[in-house]
Amino acid sequence: MFGVFDDRELAVLRAWIAALPSAEVRRPSSGAAPQERAHQPDRVSQGRPALPVLDLPELYLRLLRARPDDPEADRLASSALDRALHAVPRLRASGAQALPTSEAALRRWVDAGLWRQVHPGGPAIDLESGLSREDATWLLLQLMPAALIDGAWLEGVVRLSPSASPVVAPLFRIYRDELGAGVPLQHHGNVMRRALAREGVALPPCDAPALTRTAGLTREAFSLPVLWLAIARLTPSHLPELLGLNLAVEMAGIGDVYGRAIRALRRLGMDPLFFELHETIDNGSSGHTRWSVEAIVSYMSALEAAGDARFVEEAWARLWRGHAAYAVASGPLVRRAALELGPRLSMRWLSRGARALARLGRR
Ligand SMILES: [Fe+2]
Ligand SMILES: [Fe+2]
Repeated sequence: MFGVFDDRELAVLRAWIAALPSAEVRRPSSGAAPQERAHQPDRVSQGRPALPVLDLPELYLRLLRARPDDPEADRLASSALDRALHAVPRLRASGAQALPTSEAALRRWVDAGLWRQVHPGGPAIDLESGLSREDATWLLLQLMPAALIDGAWLEGVVRLSPSASPVVAPLFRIYRDELGAGVPLQHHGNVMRRALAREGVALPPCDAPALTRTAGLTREAFSLPVLWLAIARLTPSHLPELLGLNLAVEMAGIGDVYGRAIRALRRLGMDPLFFELHETIDNGSSGHTRWSVEAIVSYMSALEAAGDARFVEEAWARLWRGHAAYAVASGPLVRRAALELGPRLSMRWLSRGARALARLGRR
């Protein structure tokens, strides 16, 4: 077949195959909607050994340490990914607008989202100025399991060829940056490792069982990285979901969230580089968010060129489901952090406000 198809034609074929419904969807016996059936949890062993029941930190280690040819790891990854995709609530953008399903609408949606992230509006309650060094170290610790393997959700793109295709090339560039582009000091995981080392937290290798037993580390901190590791094992069959998840990861935090983190860490004399570098490298104009959009546009253009509107529509739905899985997998840690720090920060903010009022009253 060498020389029969050029790179663009191969990209069209590959995108079309990736968008095909899974074998389970084509089975007529189930009454569930196609999108739902595609993500049924792996409940039935069908003669295979039952899957071990692993808690999040154990699953993180299991997937991180698995070899490429490990069928049990594939099934564990499939089960974890299905759980996250199945938990996605109704697929609507914030507000009443439907999620974009065209290049122009996607670009407008991303620009508007970034604008809201940079200018969140509303009363600026400065809770983070009440953050103690101990609180900030605890937060960094919870981000650590994801940060150490930053870029892991893209590991599976190395199995998509050709690497120069318009879909894969921008994903490769992002993956390369996450790994520091060959410079260990710039590896995003090493940046987080250095920030914690400055606070006296020495970490073992990311795939060492001792890492999951680090003092103060919660099980919820492993929820998002488990999703990353799971989708990386399943990339060839879940490329639309990966494209959506990748966009969500790259957009997350840009603007006010990273800005607050940087200011808080600088005030405490801690290392803010992890957030500073993401505030810049993930930008929507020339950085990772822009490249994430380009990968989506190339993928959808190839599908549209194949001329099957049904596959295009299904691919957009799968993409937005992958995008929403980011919030699903981040949820446990967000809730844990709110429970852990919320009351303390609120009390400090209220008492600072009360002291300021008292000072005003004495004037
Ligand atoms: Fe990163
Ligand atoms: Fe990034």
